[in-house]
Amino acid sequence: MEIFKTAPELQAFALAAKRSGRTIALVPTMGFLHAGHASLIDIARRKAEIVIVSIFVNPTQFGPTEDLDKYPRDFEHDRILCLEHGVDVIYAPEPDAMYAPDASTWVEETKLSRPLCGAKRPIHFRGVTTVVAKLFNLALPDYAVFGMKDAQQLFVIRRMVRDLNFPVEIIAAPLVREKSGLALSSRNRYLSEDEKQRALVLSRTLEAAKPAIEQTGLGAIPAIIEAMRVEIEKAGGKVDYIEALDAATLEPPTDATVDVLLALAVYFGTTRLIDNTLIWVKR
Ligand code: PAJ
Repeated sequence: MEIFKTAPELQAFALAAKRSGRTIALVPTMGFLHAGHASLIDIARRKAEIVIVSIFVNPTQFGPTEDLDKYPRDFEHDRILCLEHGVDVIYAPEPDAMYAPDASTWVEETKLSRPLCGAKRPIHFRGVTTVVAKLFNLALPDYAVFGMKDAQQLFVIRRMVRDLNFPVEIIAAPLVREKSGLALSSRNRYLSEDEKQRALVLSRTLEAAKPAIEQTGLGAIPAIIEAMRVEIEKAGGKVDYIEALDAATLEPPTDATVDVLLALAVYFGTTRLIDNTLIWVKR
């Protein structure tokens, strides 16, 4: 397994691999890897001859009051996880190896990035699309794997790839949960045991909402969201948003809606957790 720390090293490696006809799969991450990340790596491993994992806590996707400085890091743990999952290359740059001090070019998706997390974190998705576009130009992947944990991010990246003709196939990986139901996240590290127990309300209420919306239809959504809010607040969560949107447009559901994305962001203490479920609307 090779470890590259600079953009030219990674790009030279990827160019040589492409010239020799080998396929590349990229898994972009911010490190502090867990079983959710590992599931993405395993999918990448089955897809392509070369698997590249990027580990980069991307400063441009964090707002001024967010957790950039305290975002958890453990490179040695990440290195071993990558080794155990057959990764060929780790790309782990420092911020100044990714961004010139006077960088002035952004990649911005302007529709799917607006609601949900985009409404609460205004510069977030611009940072994500910019860094992912840069990673695509460096790693030259045939495939890139993104998790449904960040469903909106996945949809935004898909749209960017379509709109800007990146020659990359985006693969969606299922959301991985603990046995308890809690969605795996690097940010779970911030939770106390008590908060972790309380946070189970998120997956529990999402799970309960699914059959309710499936059976009763779209009309049931407002009451279901209200009931979720009450239960989550009772468990001590501070709701940032709970919303049900058409999964194809990320607009409010209409008669044409087939899949609903029920998504939420909730604070436990100072930790902001996100979770979601996809609901197929029967007619
Ligand atoms: P990060 O939060 O490290 O997540 C990296 C990838 O792992 C994302 O595609 C995310 O959806 C996926 N992932 C995280 N937890 C998961 C889980 N429990 N189940 C399935 N997949 C999971 O997302 C980012 O980093 C960054 O925004 C990035 C795309 C790397 C750009 O900086």
